[in-house]
Amino acid sequence: MSSYYPGEILISRDKISCRVRELAAEIEKDFDGEPLLFIGVLKGSVIFLSDLARCLNSKVPVELDFLAVSSYGSSTKSSGVVKITKDLDEEITGRRVLIVEDIVDTGLTLHYLTSILGERSPKEIRICSLLDKPERRQVKIDINYRGFEIPDEFVVGYGLDFSGRWRNLPDIHVLRTTS
Ligand code: PRP
Repeated sequence: MSSYYPGEILISRDKISCRVRELAAEIEKDFDGEPLLFIGVLKGSVIFLSDLARCLNSKVPVELDFLAVSSYGSSTKSSGVVKITKDLDEEITGRRVLIVEDIVDTGLTLHYLTSILGERSPKEIRICSLLDKPERRQVKIDINYRGFEIPDEFVVGYGLDFSGRWRNLPDIHVLRTTS
């Protein structure tokens, strides 16, 4: 029987850490002292979000909030139907928000989320994703802050899981299987 394991490192912890600092610098420049609400999409974004938020200097007044979505199982994910299973605690009307994701794959999750959150009349919605897998995209997503473009490989670590495992790995690995 084959089993899965974290294979070679695709993006090392050092590269991640450098890029996270660069992204934080871009965000600081763009927001320049304006209040900003980070919206973390559970669970994959948690590790990235916590590093990113800690790289921002104290001139950017940042608040953190989280939501969770379910895609009604993998078979229906391609339908783009996602359901909010844990909503935000904060009101976002009139506020500038930054949705923080670990990865944009088909883009369907963010497509749906930006549409739902847009109905709450925020001042602005921006998107920050550590990883971008453009080969899999089904809908166009404008990623304002993007960490790395990656090939169409299943990856784990730094928040990304396979069946709930390996989110805690500090590097990003390609998922491999024993044959
Ligand atoms: C991942 C990721 C995004 C979504 C991206 O979440 O965190 O939310 O998939 O995929 P898409 O662009 O094809 O919509 P996942 O459903 O694996 O849940 P998790 O964050 O709890 O790991």
